[in-house]
Amino acid sequence: MTESRDVHVHLLPELARPGCLAGSVTLVIDVLRATTTIIHALAAGCTSVRPCAEVEEAKELAGGMPAGKVLLGGERHGSPLAGFDLGNSPREYTCQACRGTTLVITTTNGTRALLRAAEAERVLIGAFVNYSAVCEQLRQDLRPIHILCAGTEGEATLEDTLLAGAVVDYLCEEMEISLNDSARLAWDCFENHGRILLGALEISHGGANLRRLGYDDDIRAAAEVDKFAIVPELRRDPLRVEVGAVGIVKTHWKK
Ligand code: MLT
Repeated sequence: MTESRDVHVHLLPELARPGCLAGSVTLVIDVLRATTTIIHALAAGCTSVRPCAEVEEAKELAGGMPAGKVLLGGERHGSPLAGFDLGNSPREYTCQACRGTTLVITTTNGTRALLRAAEAERVLIGAFVNYSAVCEQLRQDLRPIHILCAGTEGEATLEDTLLAGAVVDYLCEEMEISLNDSARLAWDCFENHGRILLGALEISHGGANLRRLGYDDDIRAAAEVDKFAIVPELRRDPLRVEVGAVGIVKTHWKK
């Protein structure tokens, strides 16, 4: 009999007990918008992404890098930051802006989730835009799987839970798995909302915030399933995100 793999979803970083990610492969999700934006930036030619928790820390890190080789990006509460090169809209991260640069980024929830995940053995970055590529990497990895949703300021969000559920749905088809209750909740969420992905993102917490700020196109950009076949991965010393795996066998999106 094949052994079952543990798949644990954490609907918020705060719900992941200290130490529980150790030894795992952990997928970090912040659909609107940090992980979608990081994937866009790497696909557009950024060589690496340095996540920072604080605005001042990001400024200082970027300030120590050679001019022309660094982009300072991010947001607080969805809005761009004074003195930064770019905000957190995936559409800003064009080839022209990104090619050959290091992106130093700080966002309200997403970069914090990424830093929280660093205790895992392997950390992958996922969004709908690289759904199938992420699914394939998780299937091939033999470690226990954790899925860490960024949420929004201490609240679980529909958009992150929906993607977590879509990944659980794929894994359930591919292997024997043992789910925690949050993984079951996420799976149910995907069953109900997966068919109306764009609409679900629009009514979600993050989506409503983006519409209020006039970033409706970013919601559409986040709903472009499998636009990219890259899986960004966290590397150490220094802590940074780079393109890990590239390529997919086929799309696994079934809705
Ligand atoms: C975050 O990290 O909180 C988000 O990415 C916010 C946003 O830019 O929409």
